[in-house]
Amino acid sequence: MSTANSVARHYGSAGLAERVLAAFREANGVDAQPTPEALAPFDHFHGRGVLATQELAAQLALRPGERVLDIGSGIGGPARWIAAKFAVGVTGVDLTPEFCAAAEALNAATGLADRVTIIPGSALALPVPDGAFDAAYSQNVIMNIADKRGFYREAFRVLKPGGVLALSNLCAGNGETLIYPVPWAESAATSFLATPEEMEADLRGVGFEIVSFHNTTKDVEAATRRNRERLEREGLGPLGTHLILGERLRQMQINSSLNLEQGKVATVEALVRKPR
Ligand SMILES: C[S@@+](CC[C@H](N)C(=O)[O-])C[C@H]1O[C@@H](n2cnc3c(N)ncnc32)[C@H](O)[C@@H]1O
Repeated sequence: MSTANSVARHYGSAGLAERVLAAFREANGVDAQPTPEALAPFDHFHGRGVLATQELAAQLALRPGERVLDIGSGIGGPARWIAAKFAVGVTGVDLTPEFCAAAEALNAATGLADRVTIIPGSALALPVPDGAFDAAYSQNVIMNIADKRGFYREAFRVLKPGGVLALSNLCAGNGETLIYPVPWAESAATSFLATPEEMEADLRGVGFEIVSFHNTTKDVEAATRRNRERLEREGLGPLGTHLILGERLRQMQINSSLNLEQGKVATVEALVRKPR
């Protein structure tokens, strides 16, 4: 099986939007209207949830009406949240067909289908024209992709001159073998981590200028440790991204936290610009 198929198989399952909406109604009442804010506990599928999306989006300095690309958009939580908050149009591209279908259903449920467009496809061959976007972002996606330069080259191609790309990446730490499974992979077969130094070299290599580049491992490790302690004490709660991956997410999140604590994984937040 190709890496892309294995990755999509790892993430996808039937009935995702129905599960998220059922949990939302259980928590908020049957007549409650789903909004990007109210769905945030379920549909931002990365460490630190909507808070991480908020921090990432702030770096993009978006203006109303701009066109924004979400590379690896998952079930669309960040895209809806950003579209609603900044009055921009967001296009999400994702490899996993079930995630794209769920994103479209949730776009419709939140009344954002006219502002958030989902296109199934690969980050390595983005199904969008050259120079189409004012800004782009990608959160916790590139760890599933071996060809890092291919990913950055495509992002560079689709940005307008002067356009910015915000990245939240999982990176390699001390080179030791990870504890698996992790939320993004069952095994090393679909996990590809570059070091922060390699990440910076790859970004410069395709032509990006570095605006900011921060190793955020310490803060992310502290947040995931708190989450791990809660998971070990209480297990999975009623709300959360385990609605996406199921009960297996508990052990995956615990392992993720241990990998960070043991220095096996690092995290980087970066903002880069395509020169004018
Ligand atoms: C951990 S999820 C993050 C989803 C979303 N960015 C978020 O933060 O909510 C990783 C996502 O990357 C997508 N992905 C992995 N490899 C990809 C590729 N080559 N092209 C496009 N999407 C990919 C997966 O389908 C999945 O939706």
